[in-house]
Amino acid sequence: MLLSPQQFQQVSGAVRGLTPAQLAWVSGYLSGLTRQFDETLPVAPAAFPVAGAATLKTTILYGSQTGNSKKVAEQLLARLHAQGSEAVLANLKDYRPQQLKKEQRIVAVISTHGNGEPPDDARAFFNFLQGERAPRLDSLEYAVLALGDSSYEEFCQTGQALDQRLAELGAQRLLERVDCDVDFAAPASDWQQQLAGKTPSALESGGIHFHVNPVAAQVAQANEYTASYPFRAELLNSIGLTDTGSDKDVLHLELSLEDSGIHYQPGDILAVSFDNEAALVDEVLHLAGLPGSERVQVSGVETDLYSALRHQRELTSVTRRQLKAYAELITHPELLAAAQDKTVLQDWLYAADWADVLREFAGKPSAQQLVDVLRPLQPRQYSIASSPEAHPDEVHLLVKRVEYAFQGREHLGAGSNWLARLQAGEAASVHVKPNPNFKLPTDPQAKVIMIGAGTGVAPFRSFLFEREAQGVKGNSWLFFGEQHFRTDFLYQTEWQQLLASGALERMSVAFSRDQAEKIYVQHRLQESGADVWQWLQQGAHIYVCGDMNRMAKDVHQALLQIAVQHGGKAEEEASAWLEQLVSERRYQRDVY
Ligand SMILES: Cc1cc2nc3c(=O)[nH]c(=O)nc-3n(C[C@H](O)[C@H](O)[C@H](O)COP(=O)(O)O)c2cc1C
Repeated sequence: MLLSPQQFQQVSGAVRGLTPAQLAWVSGYLSGLTRQFDETLPVAPAAFPVAGAATLKTTILYGSQTGNSKKVAEQLLARLHAQGSEAVLANLKDYRPQQLKKEQRIVAVISTHGNGEPPDDARAFFNFLQGERAPRLDSLEYAVLALGDSSYEEFCQTGQALDQRLAELGAQRLLERVDCDVDFAAPASDWQQQLAGKTPSALESGGIHFHVNPVAAQVAQANEYTASYPFRAELLNSIGLTDTGSDKDVLHLELSLEDSGIHYQPGDILAVSFDNEAALVDEVLHLAGLPGSERVQVSGVETDLYSALRHQRELTSVTRRQLKAYAELITHPELLAAAQDKTVLQDWLYAADWADVLREFAGKPSAQQLVDVLRPLQPRQYSIASSPEAHPDEVHLLVKRVEYAFQGREHLGAGSNWLARLQAGEAASVHVKPNPNFKLPTDPQAKVIMIGAGTGVAPFRSFLFEREAQGVKGNSWLFFGEQHFRTDFLYQTEWQQLLASGALERMSVAFSRDQAEKIYVQHRLQESGADVWQWLQQGAHIYVCGDMNRMAKDVHQALLQIAVQHGGKAEEEASAWLEQLVSERRYQRDVY
């Protein structure tokens, strides 16, 4: 590289956080500077709009919870600008649905969350569009890119619903919708290319012309670590937090970010890449009757089967779609019928790995067929438990080691056990995933109510240490739930320190199995309902982190009940009130 590491850091620091349009402008500016030194270089394209006649404008809308759709939407914007097309970008949160009537063309990039629900920022837009007040959109052209994860039954449900609803309202589909799985980069890029092909440049349509250097769009990425370009973070410390006798094994890990230039904010997520356990790879190979030395193609690159299974393919999870594809592959009609019926095999699919599939439904897939039916190995994501202010140059994780018996065999969670085996001095490949929808209030004095069960408490350690480091006192209330006080009180002494320092004003704990009846965080919330309501009236922000299917749902119900009981609201009003808190980003959830 031409730049020294320090220069590179300065440049990347200077452009961090710029929008694609601003990056494009900077790119043009830098090219201009370059020409002052070298007259032989081609003239840098200017990065400002030139007025002209009427033009086709594309409005790119995104609905994103964890930033993937936002990133794809930004790439699309840069691509359209690069070819001189007029395009604007908006978060669905900030977009008035009534505006749709005035648009010529919209392109939506949207993910699915919960169990088939829109991202929080898109909920209000969706409710409006699904309702009776939605306008006719006969003169609108549109395209939808759906992001999702095929391990969920409601795969890409939100994108599908949006696509269908826009058609019902009379809008013209410009491109077929594409439903992207976890490896969305390639299909999203193909779709962008198709869309760009159907979008005239402003010159062609005779209007505003953005001259933009396409290189600019890549600048933002150069400084960021990604799954394919991770930072190697050395493990400094690994401490077991649960005591002998606990049903769980929860670890606190400290990794070094020294010299990485990585910046993160409380609420962000660390993605950790890992390899599958060798014993599981051997077992899968044995059951498939394949030695592992076969040559296979993985994403267009040749490798041997063993390496593909060890480093590049998921072995510990099985989706219904995969089971269907496998049943077709080995011509197994009973398995195919079962895989197509959403009501059967649910629990089995939840627990099974690929060794179970190959043992229960023996077949003879070829090495390439096996690789093709498996999904790409995805980095595991953990809420960051450290504060950038209080723990500089480090990142801390709270990891529950997943281990369970199924089909007479021990099953180990791939990412958590890989991390548990990591020794101090060894390195993990990591990158940060910003979590824009799980952020402390911009007003540091604003009240926060944090509800975390189990490892869901991790981001609140980050929040509280950050507030303490910033000298913020009080206005914070933590609800923590686990099974047993004696063995599972994660970070107990640190909460006590934070209470003593005043960074944590109040703490409510629920140990579910320390008494005959089960007590969970939602019960503690209800018990303190009057105070919770008062805090909310005083502008408190609520954060929920942890189990999506039970805890987050029960907490949601508890909040509704508090609004009814202490806020005097009717049930419908309570729901509308909570939706309003979501829209205002005063009710943020990071659930899984
Ligand atoms: C808690 C949670 C629930 C999810 N639920 C679904 C789902 O029901 N259906 C689906 O297709 N994808 C689901 N996903 C996967 C996301 O849609 C996928 O990760 C997507 O790339 C996220 O894009 P975003 O960062 O723009 O929100 C879920 C992800 C999380 C974290």
